Amino acid sequence: MPDATIPTLQLEDIQAGALFERPSPYVGTYLMLRITNRADGRELVRRLHRIATASRASGMSQDTTLTVGFSYRGLEALGVPQASLDSFAPEFREGMAARAQLLGDVGESAPEHWESPLGSADVHVAIAALSPDRARLEAVAEKARRAHSELPGLEVVWRQDCYQLATGRTSFGFKDGIGQPAVEGSGRTSTNPRQRSLKAGEIILGYPDETGELPPMPTPEELGRNGTYVVFRKLHTKVAAYRQYLHDRATSREEEKLLGAKMVGRWQSGAPLALTPHRDDPDLGADPQRNNDFAFADDPRGFKCPAGAHARRANPRDALDQDGSVDVRLHRMIRRGTSYGPMLPEGILEDDGADRGIIFVFAGAHLKRQFEFVKTQWLNDGIFIGAPVEKDPLVGPNDGSSGFTIPTRPIRRKLQDLPPFVVTRGGEYFFAPGLQAMRWLAELDT
Ligand code: HEM
Repeated sequence: MPDATIPTLQLEDIQAGALFERPSPYVGTYLMLRITNRADGRELVRRLHRIATASRASGMSQDTTLTVGFSYRGLEALGVPQASLDSFAPEFREGMAARAQLLGDVGESAPEHWESPLGSADVHVAIAALSPDRARLEAVAEKARRAHSELPGLEVVWRQDCYQLATGRTSFGFKDGIGQPAVEGSGRTSTNPRQRSLKAGEIILGYPDETGELPPMPTPEELGRNGTYVVFRKLHTKVAAYRQYLHDRATSREEEKLLGAKMVGRWQSGAPLALTPHRDDPDLGADPQRNNDFAFADDPRGFKCPAGAHARRANPRDALDQDGSVDVRLHRMIRRGTSYGPMLPEGILEDDGADRGIIFVFAGAHLKRQFEFVKTQWLNDGIFIGAPVEKDPLVGPNDGSSGFTIPTRPIRRKLQDLPPFVVTRGGEYFFAPGLQAMRWLAELDT
């Protein structure tokens, strides 16, 4: 029996990239475009709407998908009326580069070092094309290319190829993309049976969220409904430095793997420390029925999984909301991370100079209390775990001055002098509208 309290999600209107799992493995391309002529921009949106609608249908079958997002500057270039532009979330209106200091994008990660033109007013449209294989990717990429290449008022300003390995592992060697919230009405059940599905309004605009309210939505309703905000970040990973760091602090290969797992909260296979604290268990890591079925409440001191481990910081599960003061459910997000650049061969400790890392994509209805909150309060700051100076050991903006505490008996172990292992190479906030909203954008006559 359908639950009458759950508003029906208009799945057919929501872009494929927002709610639906990607094929695995896959290859993909991200394109950023600049609109120099408004009419051409709208014609592009009309064409992309057609492709996205078709790919939305095939997205259900895990085939090739095309997802489109617009930056604030992009909506402006399309001629969206000012009253409507003003109704978007302030963080989106400011853009990611303006939020750099707050987000910890400083030093090497500061916007002045970003790949041009990321973070500038020239990034208007983002297109993500993903496919299970290169031949099918080429087919959809060709459609997207035709959609823009005949239009002189458009310019491709940035491009990045990406992929996901069949193992799901990314450049540091860890399987990623396991811990994801399920969304009510999406047809997908939670991989963590201890956590019920999130209210749809946490991810998709136009529906009640976990507070029971409708999240602030851009106006008019035709534009906002069924859309979602998207966080896009290119994150370079210093894999050789990371391996060398662990190598210097361990006396065996086993210990290196253990220290690496303590930093992440999972073993490289994806097996959670909460379930297997002493050794990796690849069968567990590969089993979607079991690899996300855990909590932290029975490990308050972090003997199994340190409170400072990346995945525990990013989703503290029941370790935080014991007294009801923090509702972890208000800080979840859909993650769509993917790899770029060649993997550093196993065992190599010297940097080969290649650019490799992760294209990080998050989808959610609340940029501030989801992505920005998790990044600033939980990853960049240690107050909430009682270690104010400790940042996330793997992805935090470390500068060599802080460390990472690993609770062990009889005395805890502390890794010192953590350098940065992740450098932001650029990013932007986008809005991925619903399909009808794309038509609304294409038909603007301002
Ligand atoms: C290059 C940077 C990053 C790397 C290599 C990385 C890697 C990982 C890995 C290996 C996991 C464990 C596997 C899983 O549960 O899916 C994970 C989990 C997670 N990460 Fe990251 N991550 C990065 C950046 C970030 C950032 C910037 C955020 C948020 C602002 C974030 C949020 C999360 C969340 C929410 C989880 C899931 C936790 C859970 O539900 O248990 N990650 N990440």
